Order: sequence, then C-alpha cells, then structure tokens
Amino acid sequence: MNAINIADLRLAAKRRLPRAVFDYIDGAAETEWTMRENSRVFDDVTLRPRSGVATYQCDLSTTVLGEKIALPLILAPVGSTRMFYPRGEEVAARAAGEAGTIYTLSTLSGCKVEDVKAATVGPVWYQLYLVGGRDVATAAMERAKNAGCSALAVTIDTPSSACASAICATARASSRRAISSRCFRTPFKSFRVRDGSPAFSATAA
Ligand SMILES: Cc1cc2nc3c(=O)[nH]c(=O)nc-3n(C[C@H](O)[C@H](O)[C@H](O)COP(=O)(O)O)c2cc1C
Repeated sequence: MNAINIADLRLAAKRRLPRAVFDYIDGAAETEWTMRENSRVFDDVTLRPRSGVATYQCDLSTTVLGEKIALPLILAPVGSTRMFYPRGEEVAARAAGEAGTIYTLSTLSGCKVEDVKAATVGPVWYQLYLVGGRDVATAAMERAKNAGCSALAVTIDTPSSACASAICATARASSRRAISSRCFRTPFKSFRVRDGSPAFSATAA
C-alpha cells in the first residue's frame, strides 16, 4: 500500500482493523468538538512553496525539557497501541528514536516500560494517569525512572472523562461504547502488584 498522507493511512486502517479498534483510534473526546476544531484550523493555513529559494541547510532540531530532538514533534501517549499493531508501543518508540525524537509511553501500555525503553535509541517519557492511589502512582514513577524514562507527563483529566482525552469518546457506535466502558475500568484493574512489583497495565506481558 502506498500511503502518502494521514488520510490514506486512515483509510487503510479502516479497511484492516476491527470496527471497535478503528473507532478507538479515530475517535476523540466527548462530542469531538476539539478534534473538529483542531482539524479545521489547519484548513486556514496555506502553505506557499517557494521553489526558487536555495536552502543549504535545513535544521528542524530543537530542545524540549533539556532533550535535543531532531524535529519539533513528539509522539503523544496513545494507550493500548498494541491493540492495533504487534508490539505497538515498542515499534512506535523505535520509529520515534530513528526519527530523532521522543516517545511518550502511556500508562495503558501493552508492553513493559523496560522493553519500550530498550527498543529505542531515543528518549522515552512516561505518561501517568492518576488512578489507583498514591502508592500505585509512586511505584509507577519509580519503575519508569529506573527504566530510564527522562520525564513524566501527568494526565489529570482522567476521572471525569474516563481515559483522558481520546479513549472515551462520543459513543458514535455501540462498539465505541463497549470499548469506552472497558477503558473506564482498565486503569483500576491494571495496577495489580505481581511478584512484589507493580504491573504497569492489564496487558503488559
Ligand atoms: C487513540 C488515542 C489514545 C490516546 N491515549 C492516551 C493515553 O493513554 N494517555 C494520554 O494521556 N493521552 C492519550 N491520548 C491523547 C493524546 O496523547 C493527545 O493528547 C490527543 O490526541 C491530542 O492530540 P492530537 O490533537 O494530536 O490528537 C490518546 C489519543 C488517542 C487518539
């Protein structure tokens, strides 16, 4: 498949993924107003190519929280990435590292934080959902730090609208509703202590 833009990738995903999984990725929070608005403002931007201008060196690098990255983009946390691609979190982290940027690992990871860190040559940040109590959060931060994560991204809108901004979106379809209600419960189930160490997610093997 030849995908040249996000619209192509979206179509390919729609064809290949089960409906519930596609809706989970494609959807946004609550009434999806913010997603529509964010997309709409991009339409207001006109990119005007200046083909005749010589560009000897193009340097997109920047520094974020002390990390030098090759481009002004960071991979935002996406929960349950493994649901739509084998070892999804590791694969995405590797791609981020190869591109010279940061991967942010969701609390709702399907892969272990240690494996994700090992998969990439780039920095990994850890996103924390404040669920499960103080001890669980402290243990999660400790584990992420020991694994080599260099920053913490705290998502604080979880309790009111389930799993932050995207997971529990408008119930466009009954499949969406089913997955949303599962997500509501997942964080609390996730943090079981196994063999004396906190398990990061329900699915991390
Ligand atoms: C499928 C999906 C899963 C997401 N999972 C998480 C998550 O686990 N933790 C989190 O803090 N944010 C999560 N988000 C929110 C994104 O990290 C990001 O903040 C949000 O999508 C807004 O950025 P955007 O406009 O580039 O999509 C998720 C978003 C999507 C679309």
